[in-house]
Amino acid sequence: MQIMPSILTSDLARLADEIARVPSADAIHIDVMDNHFVPNLTLGKPVIKAVRSVTDKPIDVHLMIEDADRWAPDYATTGVQTITFHAEAAKAPVRLARELRKLGVRASIAFCPATPVEPFIGLLDEFDQVLVMTVEPGFGGQTFIEPMLRKTALLRDEANRRGIDLDIQVDGGVDLETVGQCARAGVNVAVAGAAVYQSADPDSMVRALRQAVDQAAQD
Ligand code: DX5
Ligand code: ZN
Repeated sequence: MQIMPSILTSDLARLADEIARVPSADAIHIDVMDNHFVPNLTLGKPVIKAVRSVTDKPIDVHLMIEDADRWAPDYATTGVQTITFHAEAAKAPVRLARELRKLGVRASIAFCPATPVEPFIGLLDEFDQVLVMTVEPGFGGQTFIEPMLRKTALLRDEANRRGIDLDIQVDGGVDLETVGQCARAGVNVAVAGAAVYQSADPDSMVRALRQAVDQAAQD
């Protein structure tokens, strides 16, 4: 299981230090919100570039913005590895994913809790990652929506059946209690905000989340 701390819940006034506090992280997850697609406003390209300059870790950008077709490609110039856009915010998701890949970033598509993944099941090879939201997007610290794991299991079965190397990511409410279930439901990338940054020792929480997955595999 790859663990990606979300800086949303970190101390944004000390962003560089907060990133340095999680050396065991597989990547840094950055949430971009536009006050339209979600009722919250965070940060954009200048801050992503600033984060890029203080860490060598991969950066996983999660765009919660309207009109992804128009704005997502812009983020490919920030030196990040993966760009996630929402299925609900893209008019031509396949064209956008192809454009992102052409620009040299990994293309990832996200689904809000009430959005079915079935329409995309024949299109999985167009994406490097699928993000199944396990909360309604917009805020950190919400409660995990367990039925979303039916989606991740379905996606994993289909990817396995067709031999597609697909990252399946969950975001929202991931903690020591829920991360094991995620792993059993085909998830291999977990974003964790509050669990990591509200813990006294964020880096040991990153490692503990991975251990909880190993434990769940033995149970
Ligand atoms: C929510 C964001 C998440 C958020 C997760 O819309 O996409 O990345 O930071 O926070 P937790 O892990 O606290 O639910
Ligand atoms: Zn996110």
